[in-house]
Amino acid sequence: MNSNFDIKKLVRPNILDLMPYRSARDDFDSGILLDANENAYGAPFENDLELHRYPMPYQEKLRDLIADFRGVDAANIFTGVGSDEAIDLLFRIFCEPGSDEVLITPPTYGMYKVSAAINNVAVNQVLLTPDFQLHVDETLQAVSDRTKIIFLCSPNNPTGNSLNREDMIAVVEQFNGIVVVDEAYIDFSVAESFATLVNEYPNLVVLQTMSKAFGLAGIRLGIAIANPAIIEFMMKVKAPYNVNKLTSQAAIRGYSNIQAMKQNVAELLTERDRVIEELSAINEIEHIYPTDANFLIFRVKEALSVYKKLAEAGVIVRFRGNEPHCENCLRLTIGTTIENNTFLEALRNVFQSD
Ligand SMILES: Cc1ncc(COP(=O)(O)O)c(C=O)c1O
Repeated sequence: MNSNFDIKKLVRPNILDLMPYRSARDDFDSGILLDANENAYGAPFENDLELHRYPMPYQEKLRDLIADFRGVDAANIFTGVGSDEAIDLLFRIFCEPGSDEVLITPPTYGMYKVSAAINNVAVNQVLLTPDFQLHVDETLQAVSDRTKIIFLCSPNNPTGNSLNREDMIAVVEQFNGIVVVDEAYIDFSVAESFATLVNEYPNLVVLQTMSKAFGLAGIRLGIAIANPAIIEFMMKVKAPYNVNKLTSQAAIRGYSNIQAMKQNVAELLTERDRVIEELSAINEIEHIYPTDANFLIFRVKEALSVYKKLAEAGVIVRFRGNEPHCENCLRLTIGTTIENNTFLEALRNVFQSD
């Protein structure tokens, strides 16, 4: 428990005082609905979702399903347009543009910096160790009284590894601002989720997404799990109808088919281990980093040139060589067996032609 944490001191004064927009569906969602300037004549095509009506503002059914799956209450759940929306909302709730700052631990997910720049919030950085773990003491020492949020990503993008659980807990316990633990890849991981810790730690926000293990990147459904006090602010600041009906329906189907999701993940992980084995047999690969996600990074000589040659062969990986500690590293997302074999063949060809 972080006893010095006081959310009222952390939230921007304009957000504390905000009178949120009240949408028509807040009051009634059945009856003769002549309240929301919708078009009762319907959409120009047949559909069974009543697409001419606005969606539910608070997505109760979906939030119940997510809460059940993660072992928390619906009051702990925010749903939005990808985790990227949740990241942006956290900036808007907690960070005063032009004066506050956040802390990130590169190499890490690029969106924290972009969202900071959009919101005119400074970014303080403490690098991970060369094996991509937290420098806990340095990270905590780098905090100033303007630091509002620390972003931790586990499993981390682009490195693939999970951060040590005790290190993350030390940061959550010793920092009096918000600690975001981005768990976009948690369902590929052997590590346990932080979701159920949100009632113990009022400053913890866990981010999850349907874009990865659920295989639903196209629907844009992101999740924040936190103490209800934080969730209430996110609900207040979000656009009234942020999650649309098509997304909501697909997301509900996703959480109603957990076994199929787990089966896909199991197949993907078997395939990932096979790819690692094959990569290990290629002499030109200098290092393959351990991964706890559906991707991995590996080091080769002249990675940028390898990246370009793979692209010429029609196989697109990500060059991550400009990230700290990732010199000459390429990031590979695990695909289907056929895709992975095509990649492996293309990679061997690149090295043979050199
Ligand atoms: C660590 C991390 N967080 C969040 C996201 C984005 O998630 P979403 O698709 O829900 O916006 C990604 C996407 O690559 C990611 O790697």
